[in-house]
Formats: sequence, structure tokens, C-alpha cells
Amino acid sequence: MTRYPELHGRTVVVTGGSRGIGAATAHAFAAEGARVCVVGRDEAALAAVVGAITAEGGTAMSVAADVTDSAALARVAEESGRRLGPVDVLAAFAGGQGRPVPSAELTEERWREVLDADLTSAFLTVRTFLPGMLERGGGSVITMSSAAGRQPSGANLAYGVASAGLVMLTRHLATEAGPRGVRVNCLAPSVILTERSAVQIPAGVREQLARAHPLGRLGLPRDVAACALFLASDGASWLSGITLDVAGGRITG
Ligand SMILES: NC(=O)c1ccc[n+]([C@@H]2O[C@H](COP(=O)([O-])OP(=O)(O)OC[C@H]3O[C@@H](n4cnc5c(N)ncnc54)[C@H](OP(=O)(O)O)[C@@H]3O)[C@@H](O)[C@H]2O)c1
Repeated sequence: MTRYPELHGRTVVVTGGSRGIGAATAHAFAAEGARVCVVGRDEAALAAVVGAITAEGGTAMSVAADVTDSAALARVAEESGRRLGPVDVLAAFAGGQGRPVPSAELTEERWREVLDADLTSAFLTVRTFLPGMLERGGGSVITMSSAAGRQPSGANLAYGVASAGLVMLTRHLATEAGPRGVRVNCLAPSVILTERSAVQIPAGVREQLARAHPLGRLGLPRDVAACALFLASDGASWLSGITLDVAGGRITG
């Protein structure tokens, strides 16, 4: 990975940091010397990530919290602030409710659940940390969309709509926050092989999907983590409001 010495000593909060893309991102920031707070609901998984980062010589802590709950997010801000200091980089990555459902069979309950988990959660997360960043006049927010928000996909409709909403949430916030020194950018990965998706996608389908990406393979969590580091780095200091398609060249529309 490209090195970013300017990230040394920065405080980074990664929601969805207990596994998958978020965990890889937490590791990548910690490897640059950043002080990382990982957030998720599974305490054992959070402890494993913190343990692994610490064993590698990094600085990490965790807070177990449901990011659809603003009171729980306030607790994340309080605990991370007390132990690591004010947040410099917020990676709002928690979510992932894309499992396919034909739209005619998508229930109202499921629709609300997915919007809550993937879009409202990001709004609540940003709303928790952004005021402090604006007050301090600096920082980088990175939101998590998906290729499903860039064009219709096999994911369920609610996930596609939530992912598209995240692109606009990012652009809107970037416009407001830019004049106060805070950059807001978004990542839109295509298929990323995590522990979870590796189990869910059968090997044959995986090969087919890999061929559908011009670069001939599926993404890995570290591909997304590398983009997160770049967006947080000084090299991206004139980038705000963008959505980066982390998609192995599979860009349409
Ligand atoms: N993998 C892909 O192909 C792909 C593609 C495009 C976009 N994405 C997006 O990337 C993000 C991470 O996905 P992933 O594939 O790494 O998923 P994953 O392995 O299933 O991990 C999801 C992470 O989000 C956390 N999370 C989910 N809902 C939460 C909630 N309500 N409160 C707190 N934490 C919550 C989970 O924590 P706990 O398990 O500890 O609760 C876990 O850390 C998601 O937003 C997903 O939509 C993934």
C-alpha cells in the first residue's frame, strides 16, 4: 500500500469496523500510525480486530454500538473522544443489506429496515461527528455507497436506493462543510470478497462475476481500504463531494 505519513497520530472512527471492509480499513489506518476506534455490534469481533491491530503495534479501541441508534452513537463519540481525542477521519462504513429480493416481494418492513441500516445510519453517524469537525475547521468524512447505487443491480431495491441516497448525502454535505474545512467523499465498491460474501457467493458464480469486471477479479477489502486512506490523505486535499467507484473497471451509465 502507498504510505501516508500525514495520517500518523490522526484519530479515525470506522463504523462497520468489526469485520469485512471496515476491519481492513481500520487495519490500514492503524498501519499508518493512526489511532483507530472501531464500531460494530459484535463485541467478540470488535475485540478480535482491536487485538490484531494492537498485536501489530497499532493503537485501537472499540465501542459496541448500533449505528441506527443516535444515543449509542453519542456514546461512541464520547468514549472515542475521551480515549483518542477529537475525530479527524470518520469512515461511516456500517451497513450491507443488499441481499436480492424481487421488488414486488419487498415488504414495507424490509424496505424501512434496509433504509434505516444503510442510509439513516450514515446520516446519524455523520450528524454525531460533523459538528465537532466543523467547529475545529478540519477533517475528512468518508461514506460508503455501492455499485448498486450507481446503476440497477441484482441487489434489492431498497439497498440500491439507499446507496444512491448516500451519493447525494455526500455531495450535499460536501457543499455545506467545504467552506469550513471539512471534506466529504464516498466510496462505491462493486463486489468485494469479504469473509461473509466469500461464503455467500458460490465459487462458480464468483468466477462469472470476476469475468464481468474488466480487471478480471473481484475486489478485496484492502482495495477499498486503500481508497479510504487516499481520500483521508493530504493528496486528496482538493477532493470533496466525489464518489469513487472501486469497481475493477466495471463502470456503467
Ligand atoms: N462487500 C461488498 O461487496 C460491498 C459492496 C459495496 C458496498 N459494500 C458496503 O460496504 C460496507 C461494509 O460491507 P462488508 O461487505 O464489509 O460487510 P460485512 O462484512 O457484513 O460487515 C458489515 C459491518 O457493518 C457493521 N454493521 C452493520 N449494521 C450495523 C449497525 N446497525 N450498527 C453497527 N454496525 C453495523 C457490522 O458490524 P457487526 O457485525 O459487529 O454488527 C460489520 O462490521 C457496507 O456498508 C456495505 O453496504 C459492500
